[in-house]
Amino acid sequence: MKKIILTGDRPTGRLHVGHYAGSLRRRVQLQDSGEYDEIYIMIADAQALTDNFDNPEKVRQNIVEVALDYLSVGLDPNKSHLFIQSMVPELTEMTFYYNNLVTLSRLERNPTVKNELQLRGFQDSIPVGFLTYPISQTADITAFKATVVPVGEDQLPMLEQAREIVRKFNSTYDEVLVEPQVLLPDNKACLRLPGTDGKAKMSKSLGNCIYLADTPEDVKKKVMSMYTDPDHIKVEDPGKVEGNAVFTYLDAFSTQEHFEKYLPDYKNLDELKEHYMRGGLGDVKVKKFLNNVMQEVLEPIRERRHKWEADIPAVYEILKEGSRVAQAKAAETLAEMKAAMKINYFDDGALITEHVNKYR
Ligand code: TRP
Repeated sequence: MKKIILTGDRPTGRLHVGHYAGSLRRRVQLQDSGEYDEIYIMIADAQALTDNFDNPEKVRQNIVEVALDYLSVGLDPNKSHLFIQSMVPELTEMTFYYNNLVTLSRLERNPTVKNELQLRGFQDSIPVGFLTYPISQTADITAFKATVVPVGEDQLPMLEQAREIVRKFNSTYDEVLVEPQVLLPDNKACLRLPGTDGKAKMSKSLGNCIYLADTPEDVKKKVMSMYTDPDHIKVEDPGKVEGNAVFTYLDAFSTQEHFEKYLPDYKNLDELKEHYMRGGLGDVKVKKFLNNVMQEVLEPIRERRHKWEADIPAVYEILKEGSRVAQAKAAETLAEMKAAMKINYFDDGALITEHVNKYR
């Protein structure tokens, strides 16, 4: 069986270091491993509209931002098909058929959707399109027969739903669809990187994100004002590393080489943490180190971004070509689905013969 990746993001803002640690970095590694036969990376504009239907301009503006972020982290259009969801209308047709395979109560149990409904104040008037986006997400995944879906932890319920729909479709009609495996980050700190304010989630509205496109000055400012341990007041005080955003970021991003280069007094992160917990290590020193780490991680990303920013028509051309390839693949899968569902009337010669005989 072919090894196929599909994943994507909603274009509702620029991507940040949480996206990078949680998924983008992994995608690039998988891409460059050469182990995958096909890779599809989708800008989920139609899904973004499920909770921004009244603000299409926001979605429209952010497509190019997300595409630039993709290219800047090293997703390579020669290896990965970057495409726009709404350019593949087959996905909505699949969704329509999947709607029959899912119950309302099953949708209402989805913990990520529940949480999002609450955040958006939708509880009392739930838009159908929003409640059912996990079904549309199943179409995104299955249209490409994806075997692996690298995503952040919040997407687990979507994958569970997708696997159920696949089983239901295959047992009801025929073995057409492939059950996808989820791939989560292996590093715990990367599962959900906190905001710079220590809050559990990075979010644009909270203003606690470090964006991939931030300038070096912005990154430094954000790092130097990051949330640490509120009880660590004097340098001599013992400090906590758990729930301390600076150390969580170091868990996610720092390497042995960073220590050798910027903080050679310490062998590794464990030693730095021990000193902090013992007392005698100030926040500023740790933050300066984190700033060096983040600058080193972000510099090549920023440079690549500037290169692509100078050629926006080429970025749109990449999306157009990726969408063409994605649409062709989705059309193939949809044709197989329709044959399995017996709604391929004009491709089914036997059907006409059957009816000729019926009325002979
Ligand atoms: N729901 C994902 C997000 O919020 C985006 C997405 C849409 C997606 N379709 C997908 C992710 C299919 C993985 C697979 O970012």
